[in-house]
Amino acid sequence: MPVSPIEWIGDHQGFLRLLDQTRLPDEVSFVDCRKPEQVFTAIRTLQVRGAPAIGVSAAYGVVLGLQPAEDDFDQALDATTKRLAESRPTAVNLFWALDRMRRIAGESSGRPFAERLRSLFSEAQMIEQEDREMCAAIGWHGAPLLSTMQAVLTHCNAGALATAGQGTALSVIFEAVKQGHRLEVYADETRPLCQGSRLTAWELVDRGIPCTVICDNMAGWVMRQKRVQGVVVGADRIAANGDTANKIGTYGVAVLARAHGIPFYVAAPSSTFDLRLVSGDEIPIEERNRNEITEPWGRPNAPAQAGVFNPAFDVTPAEFIAGIVTERGVISPVNAETVRAMVASPATSQRRESAAAPLH
Ligand code: MRU
Repeated sequence: MPVSPIEWIGDHQGFLRLLDQTRLPDEVSFVDCRKPEQVFTAIRTLQVRGAPAIGVSAAYGVVLGLQPAEDDFDQALDATTKRLAESRPTAVNLFWALDRMRRIAGESSGRPFAERLRSLFSEAQMIEQEDREMCAAIGWHGAPLLSTMQAVLTHCNAGALATAGQGTALSVIFEAVKQGHRLEVYADETRPLCQGSRLTAWELVDRGIPCTVICDNMAGWVMRQKRVQGVVVGADRIAANGDTANKIGTYGVAVLARAHGIPFYVAAPSSTFDLRLVSGDEIPIEERNRNEITEPWGRPNAPAQAGVFNPAFDVTPAEFIAGIVTERGVISPVNAETVRAMVASPATSQRRESAAAPLH
């Protein structure tokens, strides 16, 4: 991966540089955020996107909000975390990261301003570093699942662009390829914003992994023709029973995979689990602007008078999921008991025994 989607420049008084993902694949450009409002806009407009990357960016956004707040630290903390929490509703990593920042700020209460700011900065760095490690561990745990497959299908982008590391679903693929497995990837275009064709295909091509882009409505036929032997996708929020929210269209892919008898895997770090929610019915689903459908890329695609429904995510019931690959191992079968057992288990990785973040 030649460019990083998230980079903090400087020390605790520095700024956040984000790769502008709305401009890919034709332009590699960056947006520099020096105020939390710029981070809010970057998240809202999908310049930075993908659940873990949103969480990491928001953590740095809190640092930006506190930099000028020597006289009103607690008030600024409140205002900044509240504003960033309004940027997007579905990816729980956002709220998880903001909670961590608030907790650290609370622990440093009464200390000098510079010390409090530095502790927030190092917490944001830690969130970023842990995400990198979790991505790697997900790859190690997930790669064996693909060992008998020649080709897999993925939906949306759960790669390096969506995280601080090498991705979640794509990490599994990258690790399998690194271990010498020849694998082709079918990338769903992922309407309406085409994260699959614009971002996933871009990452795969960059790494020299054979990649075939298909429109979303072709996945069933691709499975019917036995062109893929499995599916692996990322997640934005996983409820206590394993029901999984991910990019709109994921649910349909899971149903198709079931109908064709091929395994459907989810790959996600522990920061994506929301054990406060009993089932996926409780996951808030973002609805986005109608223009994304009626005027994609600025050109009319539907009559202006037509109604539009534009949910950004859907929920795949646990019963359709063959396994959830986490940094701690693979949850399979997927149900409330196995989810609880895995997330309560000590963190493990092949290279580092203490890599995982605490679960909320
Ligand atoms: O709307 P997006 O592009 O933020 O949606 C992203 C996804 O649905 C990803 O699959 C998910 O966040 C996992 S990223 C590792």
